[in-house]
Amino acid sequence: MTMETIAFDERKAEVFAEKMFAVLDHGALALLTSVGHRTGLLDALGNLPPSTSTEIASDAGLDERYAREWLAGMFTAGVVEYEPSTAQYSLPAEHASFLTRAASPNNMAAFTQYIGMFGTVEDKIIECFENGGGVPYSEFTRFQETMAEDSGQTVLPVLIDKIVPLVDGLSDRLRQGIDVLDVGCGSGLALVLLAETFPNSRFIGVDISAEGLATGRNEAVRRDVTNIRFEQRDATKMWFDEQFDLVTTFDAVHDQKDPAAVVREIHRALRPGGTYLMQDIAASSKLENNRNLPLGTFLYAISTFHCMTVSLSDGGEGLGTMWGEEMAMEMLGKADFELLKVTKLEHDPQNNYYISQK
Ligand SMILES: C[S@@+](CC[C@H](N)C(=O)[O-])C[C@H]1O[C@@H](n2cnc3c(N)ncnc32)[C@H](O)[C@@H]1O
Repeated sequence: MTMETIAFDERKAEVFAEKMFAVLDHGALALLTSVGHRTGLLDALGNLPPSTSTEIASDAGLDERYAREWLAGMFTAGVVEYEPSTAQYSLPAEHASFLTRAASPNNMAAFTQYIGMFGTVEDKIIECFENGGGVPYSEFTRFQETMAEDSGQTVLPVLIDKIVPLVDGLSDRLRQGIDVLDVGCGSGLALVLLAETFPNSRFIGVDISAEGLATGRNEAVRRDVTNIRFEQRDATKMWFDEQFDLVTTFDAVHDQKDPAAVVREIHRALRPGGTYLMQDIAASSKLENNRNLPLGTFLYAISTFHCMTVSLSDGGEGLGTMWGEEMAMEMLGKADFELLKVTKLEHDPQNNYYISQK
């Protein structure tokens, strides 16, 4: 078919133009929502009756002029309601139920922080498009904090009652006392919760990030949890030999420099018969299967702006967030794991849970 024979579909163009206008509005709304989360404006609105911008700013301890401009944007987005006769703004309960800390684990505002974070590294990412290479973890000043809020909603609330029971008999074994390692533990909040819940077991969290580990250590001290320790180690060179009965990774394999080496190290760290529980993104390794994946664009953006680039920055493989379950299963097999099951949890269709045995 030559170029001349391809008809230009005016209607298709119009529909696409509308989509691009919506992109501008929704992209801007994501930033405003992130600001609303970080400043506490959304929480203030969630608690207040209909109020003026002065009252809302005062409640949140913020500058009124900025709060008013933000309120105007949230009103035009249809998030906040506005009564002109009294100049009062309000957040409907139905909206607050997805936008406030009180609504956690359903607080979607927490996830919008990624959009702002990506903006901070956009110039560096563009340099990578031009010259290759990657942007290292150290450039993402708010990563550990944002990630802890993310897994604080997707992992923590279901860790004990839904995730642990995915492995047959694991709750009982944890109650009796086993050795557990969490690799790429970040801020370590999942491990602290496990250690607190199962005082007869022993827990070690490993990460390369001093900032993440410090948060974990402080939280353990704050909650008087003593059967836990955090160690700064490179997951590709942990040097643990058959010391653990359970190893977990929560969203911590695909962005590694050498993910296959990490999975091999996990295999080495486990005692014979030990269990590896890996949570990672539920996608296909084949792009065509991800066409209608919910949040697919968001996830490929996370990959471009974080997971792929941090790996490439270190001369790594750059698998990307969307490496997919076919590749994950192959990697587990090559590391000599027996894959017992791959499953999802109802609240979190974005992740797979791979249960494997050494
Ligand atoms: C996406 S975060 C997940 C953090 C945590 N598991 C959670 O769910 O909140 C991935 C973690 O892997 C860590 N990481 C990356 N490369 C690493 C390496 N080579 N050795 C150890 N940890 C590493 C990062 O510092 C980060 O904390």
